[in-house]
Amino acid sequence: MKIVKTVDEIRAIVKAWKKEGLSVGLVPTMGYLHEGHKSLIVRASKENDRVVVSDFVNPTQFGPNEDFESYPRDIDADAVLAQDAGASVIFNPEADEMYQDALTFIDMNKITKVLCGKTRPIHFSGVCTVVGKLFNIVAPDRAYFGQKDAQQLCVIKKMVKDLNFDIEIVGCPIIREEDGLAKSSRNTYLNKEERQAALCLSKSLCEGKKLIENGETSTEKVVNRIKGIIESEPLARIDYVEIVDWNNLEAIDTVKTPLLCAMAVYIGKTRLIDNFIME
Ligand code: PAF
Repeated sequence: MKIVKTVDEIRAIVKAWKKEGLSVGLVPTMGYLHEGHKSLIVRASKENDRVVVSDFVNPTQFGPNEDFESYPRDIDADAVLAQDAGASVIFNPEADEMYQDALTFIDMNKITKVLCGKTRPIHFSGVCTVVGKLFNIVAPDRAYFGQKDAQQLCVIKKMVKDLNFDIEIVGCPIIREEDGLAKSSRNTYLNKEERQAALCLSKSLCEGKKLIENGETSTEKVVNRIKGIIESEPLARIDYVEIVDWNNLEAIDTVKTPLLCAMAVYIGKTRLIDNFIME
């Protein structure tokens, strides 16, 4: 698997593909790839002639007290997984290659200020900026994002529309462990007890979804039921549990589709997110 470190080189590779009339898919990641990323790469390689996987722990999307330094990294293992999944090349720049005295950042209102944006005020500006840069560097036909980061997916779709990027955004389903825990690079932070406790996220979401399917129309009642399950787990601390309109992330009092039920929960020191979408 070829690992490219510079913007110039990845641009030259993509230009040559485009000259041959080949389509290009991009899977943006922060590395430490797992089955969730693999599903995105597999899908991208089915739908495009060539696939670029970007592997970059982006410093601008981490707040001062977040886990930028300790975020897990393993480029050799990533190369093996990406190759197996059908990637053509990995783009793995250093931070200096991506940000040289940068003064320009993408910022967005409203949908970046709710849910995760309440406690991570700079996060989505960092995400939009790096994803916008990757779009300009790679110029893919399609880009693939997991639905586990549902707010991120919504924000990126809006950015693409607002800034007229000529790129199709493909959202892909959440990949879970057998016991229901959503796959995440951050799951590696969990010790044995925390790993067990983390099941309260997916279990409570399942219960919430069942309530709605059985006819509950009050979002407050659904959220309270979910919170009750999480609060009965001593190692868990809720950041937020909310039900919002999936089109614009605005809070809704009454169940109406499409909706997003999203949560962020600390298990010990590890902040995990999970959600379900009802179309
Ligand atoms: O979802 C992620 O891993 C990151 O937020 C992304 C989209 C690669 C941007 O750094």
